[in-house]
Amino acid sequence: MLEVEVGELAPHELWPAVQMLSRAFRDNPLPVAVFGQNPERRRKALERYFSTWVPTLGWIPLCARRNGWVTGLVGIAPPGRCRLGPWRFTRLALAVARGGGPRSVPRALTIASLWEKWDPAQGHWHLGPVGVEPSLQGMGIGSQMLERFCYYMDSLRALAYLETDKPENVRFYERFGFRVIGEEEALGITHWFMAREPSSR
Ligand SMILES: CC(C)(COP(=O)(O)OP(=O)(O)OC[C@H]1O[C@@H](n2cnc3c(N)ncnc32)[C@H](O)[C@@H]1OP(=O)(O)O)[C@@H](O)C(=O)NCCC(=O)NCCS
Repeated sequence: MLEVEVGELAPHELWPAVQMLSRAFRDNPLPVAVFGQNPERRRKALERYFSTWVPTLGWIPLCARRNGWVTGLVGIAPPGRCRLGPWRFTRLALAVARGGGPRSVPRALTIASLWEKWDPAQGHWHLGPVGVEPSLQGMGIGSQMLERFCYYMDSLRALAYLETDKPENVRFYERFGFRVIGEEEALGITHWFMAREPSSR
């Protein structure tokens, strides 16, 4: 386990965090399906996307720091905030188009409508994006951030919810009490939808 300091992301750390997230997600199935086969193009498209999305989550993200550097991030949207209004929807669609080209927009819309379909009607805290610097993955950084997030959720007695695109992520989230509530294919990849009821500590 690599010890990190977990705390709230400071405003000046937003850009390094966005760059880190773009490296972390570059090779995930979803960005490949939306932005195509070129890794550097995907990373740049993700930078645009995350730099638009993360500041509008409606809550300060948690981050992991090591020697002062942001090595991980957990985005958090409070209840009601994960539904995109027209303004945020347009900004995100433009970010996708600018980063990935016009052909990526219908693919992103397919995902957006699938995720909206599964989004629980019940009030919930929406987790994501969650990412760790690629060279430091598998060393316990994600777990230390999830511990803190689940501690918040338990103290609020709140439902948490997320989407993910890799089976190893499903195992990771199950360790923290998330359970799969749905699974569906879109754009040739499997999407898992997971929820976590609060537990008493
Ligand atoms: C998923 C992620 C946040 C987990 O953080 P982490 O610091 O790597 O995870 P930890 O070291 O605390 O826990 C390890 C567990 O995470 C899971 N895991 C998922 N992706 C992994 C990866 N790339 N490397 C290592 N473990 C990974 C495995 O279940 C692993 O358990 P195992 O070693 O028994 O197989 C991180 O790997 C990541 O950024 N992945 C790429 C982006 C992504 O998929 N984010 C989640 C989107 S919902």
